[in-house]
Amino acid sequence: MCGIVGYTGQEQAAPILLEGLSKLEYRGYDSAGIAVRNAGELPQLAKTAGKLHFLVEKTDGGKLLPGTCGIGHTRWATHGNPTVDNAHPHTSDNVIGVHNGIIENYAELREKLTDKGYRFYSQTDTEVIVKLVDYYYKKYGIGPIDAINRTMVRARGSYALALMFVDYPGEIYAARKESPLVLGTTRDASFLASDVPAILKYTRKVYYIENLQAARITPGRIQFFNLNGDEITLPAREIDWDASAAEKGGYEHFMLKEIHEQPRAVRDTVSSLADFSSTGLDNAFLRSVERIYMVACGSALHAGIAGQYVVERLCGIPVRVEFASEFRYRHLPMEKGTLVVVVSQSGETADSLAALRKAKEAGLPVLGIVNVMGSSIAREADYLIHTMAGPEISVATTKAYSAQLAALYILAVRTAMAKGTVSEEEGKYCLDEIAALPDKIGAVLENKKQLQWFATKIASDTDIFYIGRGLDYAVCLEGSLKMKEISYIHSEAYAAGELKHGTISLIEDNTVVIGVLTQEEVAEKTVSNMIECRSRGARLMVLAKEGIRVPDGLSDFVVRIPSVPDLFSASLAVVPLQLLGYYTSVNRGLDVDKPRNLAKSVTVE
Ligand code: M6R
Repeated sequence: MCGIVGYTGQEQAAPILLEGLSKLEYRGYDSAGIAVRNAGELPQLAKTAGKLHFLVEKTDGGKLLPGTCGIGHTRWATHGNPTVDNAHPHTSDNVIGVHNGIIENYAELREKLTDKGYRFYSQTDTEVIVKLVDYYYKKYGIGPIDAINRTMVRARGSYALALMFVDYPGEIYAARKESPLVLGTTRDASFLASDVPAILKYTRKVYYIENLQAARITPGRIQFFNLNGDEITLPAREIDWDASAAEKGGYEHFMLKEIHEQPRAVRDTVSSLADFSSTGLDNAFLRSVERIYMVACGSALHAGIAGQYVVERLCGIPVRVEFASEFRYRHLPMEKGTLVVVVSQSGETADSLAALRKAKEAGLPVLGIVNVMGSSIAREADYLIHTMAGPEISVATTKAYSAQLAALYILAVRTAMAKGTVSEEEGKYCLDEIAALPDKIGAVLENKKQLQWFATKIASDTDIFYIGRGLDYAVCLEGSLKMKEISYIHSEAYAAGELKHGTISLIEDNTVVIGVLTQEEVAEKTVSNMIECRSRGARLMVLAKEGIRVPDGLSDFVVRIPSVPDLFSASLAVVPLQLLGYYTSVNRGLDVDKPRNLAKSVTVE
């Protein structure tokens, strides 16, 4: 989704803005722009369609645009194509601004503003909101904060806004509803951005502006205001990770680096939960949980599906996994005794946040399993498990997914122990096995070469099927998503037993079918399904746990993962599938870390 940066201080702003935007590239975008100014001069703009390097070239790394105050933006097109005209910043007589989010009533506002004499030069909702601020500013002769507050009352939807007013040199104004925005200061400069990596080089002390709040940003000082225009105080938060955590560290891509960080991410998550009371979930509460709704999107949903199997097996309570985008509009029973678990790396996914709010409105307790501290879901959940994956830059998630799995296992074991559905001894055994996962993931990573080779064999295929049963099906969903999102090869995950009910008609000569075999109870059945595929011409790859029998000649390509209890095997089985997706994308010469059309954090519906 769009990325916003802002800087006001003593240095030339444009190079700082461009560098900040480069740290937000991972969010996904298709055009970029900056506006900078000096006191007494009008803002100067530069905008380009396509990747950020075009803007860097156009401005000679920012050198061509003088000025010590400015705002910048990478746009992920929603309203209108990714053209220069639609790129931000957008302007009005007195105001220039950038925006992340969607203004839902923009059409109606645009019509009204047109009637008032405003002309529009883009198809964006952003230009509408910038002109609406300008309208209130002029009409009532009020200050920037009051004009922004009036706009916030009038505009529906989600937004993070950064605005400069022609009459207020050296100042940037910001406002937010739903979309993320972080602000920080040093002694003589101030910054704002959609995410921490853009400003971490300058400061670790940051402020998270809340919904319907505004800010006035001057060099070295930030003031916050509520919707009434009263100045308010927000707590400063310290970022506890280093800028190097968001660098490639010698790896060719962030995704490969993050795949290799999984042992550390899982280890840190597991150790942080050694004292489970830190989550706020005590035994009495866990005993009272009669059912769980697991709500999330994408890979976080897949982690939830794996968690579903583990919780059901250990705790004997029903778990329903719901797409957050469906949950928010469905009319599910919201009965007492239900715990809603919202899983999210970013903590800002619009649908997941809306689902959280819906659950809270219905009076249900919400547990957030979130990677980004300070994010909306982390702040609004009643209980919180902080996954310790650290900053994840690659759009395709890997280490955050693995940390989510570990968190869900521990939730399942702790709930089972509290309920007495497993004994203390069994619970302790499970916790020890979970603690042993990082070393085993490390062992799986040793096996990269095999996957690298197999990726060359499938790089020009057009369809790949992943099949498995039980927890293996959950892993297939994630493996298949990894493949399609970064290699653009059509891929589907199927519960192996479902193939016969329609999908097997798609299997023909040379179709690639990857069978996952880690669940002892059902592995033989999946093998039978694989043989059925082979009989129809499929090329098979087998991903099997040590100890599970793979019939001779089933496939020329067998990848083994170390022995691990069935319940926790997803943590190992997913790694070869991540690597396979990664190497396939590399083989096809694609932009692994920033796949087309995708955004890291989906902050609009
Ligand atoms: O930040 P979240 O975990 O809430 O994001 C949810 C999905 O958008 C995300 O998992 C997405 O599917 C991944 N980028 C896939 O790799």
